[in-house]
Amino acid sequence: MSGIERVGVVGCGLMGAGIAEVSARGGYDVVVVESDDARARAGHDRLEASLKRAEAKGKIDSAAEVMGRIRVVTDLSELADRDLVVEAIVEDEDAKTALFRELDAIVTSPDAILASNTSSIPIMKLAVVTQRPTHVTGIHFFNPVPVLSLVEIVPSLLTDGDTKDRARSFVTSLGKEPIDCQDRAGFVVNALLIPFILSAIRMFESGFATAEDIDRGLVLGAAHPQGPLALADLIGLDTTKAVAESLYEEFKEQLYAPPPLLARMVEAGLLGRKTGRGFYTYDK
Ligand SMILES: NC(=O)c1ccc[n+]([C@@H]2O[C@H](COP(=O)([O-])OP(=O)(O)OC[C@H]3O[C@@H](n4cnc5c(N)ncnc54)[C@H](O)[C@@H]3O)[C@@H](O)[C@H]2O)c1
Repeated sequence: MSGIERVGVVGCGLMGAGIAEVSARGGYDVVVVESDDARARAGHDRLEASLKRAEAKGKIDSAAEVMGRIRVVTDLSELADRDLVVEAIVEDEDAKTALFRELDAIVTSPDAILASNTSSIPIMKLAVVTQRPTHVTGIHFFNPVPVLSLVEIVPSLLTDGDTKDRARSFVTSLGKEPIDCQDRAGFVVNALLIPFILSAIRMFESGFATAEDIDRGLVLGAAHPQGPLALADLIGLDTTKAVAESLYEEFKEQLYAPPPLLARMVEAGLLGRKTGRGFYTYDK
């Protein structure tokens, strides 16, 4: 038993909305915090649309019932009574450490777990800014959260065994499959996936092959469900670049360095599906 009933999520973007959705579908009471009213409304609409799709596909009985367990708010202090808070804000170390300091002061139960969905920032950096490093862990979901079953559990050197067990048991209660990872940038999956995506971007940038042919090559020749450039668009090119930078910072290996084209696309606001254009264009 995880002893978790009340879940908090910070950030209601791509991942935060997904984590809130699967938690509410798992029967938990969920409070989601966004940075302002407009984003909270957008997050609420994103959640509602996803739940209605799940209802239409027969995956849940009632979108309204699940939505009834979720509140999207803008005041962080509404997380005071939570047993578990999962942070899913922008992949920026300063923003995340500032938030963990605040959460540590706000969340009252000494047993409460503060978790991060970070893809690449060492959990230790977040743990040490709190007064409860034993209760800080990585719980790394995959995108799209309602669809992909893998979750990486990433304890830091200071996380205690009970916190790790409770995090695993929470994840299992959502119908997800946890794997254990060491606290190294990229954990297991991104340490392998990001250099693969960066290689595809370099191949496209060099004019070696078109985006479509690179992606078709991997779909038809290696049975990947989608090609690496389509996957980068799905992850978000800003997030892809941020994860690559964290990996490069940690290991200083060339294969993790973001290629210039990726940097230019992020500067241009071509972030993939979420902005309607990346390596491909999308209907918004
Ligand atoms: N995109 C992916 O495929 C993926 C997969 C696994 C993990 N992650 C990780 O999940 C996290 C979120 O990524 P995302 O893709 O959902 O990003 P996103 O840009 O879609 O969402 C981030 C949200 O956080 C909100 N936010 C920012 N600062 C905030 C604050 N201080 N308080 C409350 N809300 C705040 C933003 O308004 C935005 O809605 C990142 O750490 C990322 O590395 C992403």
